[in-house]
Amino acid sequence: MECSHRSPDFMEMAATAEADLRELLKIPDNYKVLFLQGGATLQFAMAPLNLMGKSAKADYVNTGHWSSKAISEAKRFGEINIAASSEAENYTCVPAFEYWKLSADAAYVHYTPNETIGGVEFPFIPDTGDVPLVADMSSNILSAPLDVSRFGIIYAGAQKNIGPAGLTLVIVRDDLLNQAMPQCPTLMNYANHAERDSMLNTPPTLAWYLAGLVFKWLKRQGGLEAMARINRRKADKLYQAIDQSSFYSNKVTVEQRSCMNVPFILADDALNSVFLAESKAAGLLNLKGHKAVGGMRASIYNAVPEAAVDALIDFMADFEQRNG
Ligand SMILES: Cc1ncc(COP(=O)(O)O)c(C=O)c1O
Repeated sequence: MECSHRSPDFMEMAATAEADLRELLKIPDNYKVLFLQGGATLQFAMAPLNLMGKSAKADYVNTGHWSSKAISEAKRFGEINIAASSEAENYTCVPAFEYWKLSADAAYVHYTPNETIGGVEFPFIPDTGDVPLVADMSSNILSAPLDVSRFGIIYAGAQKNIGPAGLTLVIVRDDLLNQAMPQCPTLMNYANHAERDSMLNTPPTLAWYLAGLVFKWLKRQGGLEAMARINRRKADKLYQAIDQSSFYSNKVTVEQRSCMNVPFILADDALNSVFLAESKAAGLLNLKGHKAVGGMRASIYNAVPEAAVDALIDFMADFEQRNG
């Protein structure tokens, strides 16, 4: 924890962490990897501040809680066009790409590939042509292989699949490092961080170190292809358990259900508190759904073993039998 970020030990660890991440995600050489602070929420401001220097106009896709937050923040910096929204469907699906109203002169298109609270995940990467695509991958990064070359910027708060809170990962294409708005603060400018290897000021050293250990762990599991197989299996069996029961339900369009966040509601809301108390007593924690969706949510990130999903499924079946 006290290791100086200027020490050779830290510098070596930082370089190795970046190299391992590049290997895992097959990040092309024309992308910089930044290890920052401020969470994904700060990226809601940093993306527009860094990209709206040439055109203060951007397209956003609204698929729920986190994209709405990104939209509200971006409106402080420029003209935001909502290219597509699933609000009318209560955020239970991804808007069909053929109906997106993209602007030719947008500085970028922003979307949230996995809506953590709604449990909606894009089964495709939108093709935005020459307009850079910006993605908030906070809750699905490193869950499966990814074609990074399709994106202008990928950002993610670390605390789901990367490491402990306090670290934010930004992967940015080189040619996007020269279009910051003039008022972009020094410490929010990607180009400054890129130039100084993310050590413009003291970085979150311990979180960075732990993220490096997670990257090594992911490599030992067999990389992202292996993680995708495990994650798919975990999610499929949980959704199957929900779909087979008339006691539990999930409203998300089947092909767009998240592999990481599985919200489900009980037939009777009055049983929510009993479910939560009993599941907690059984060692199954953090199952309370967000108030926007209600019910339960199982976040089955990379670190959640398949056995934990099996235990949840067994508990759910037993609970249904006793209360259904
Ligand atoms: C998709 C998504 N975006 C943004 C955030 C906010 O992240 P942070 O707390 O790191 O700012 C979260 C947090 O859960 C998230 O899941």
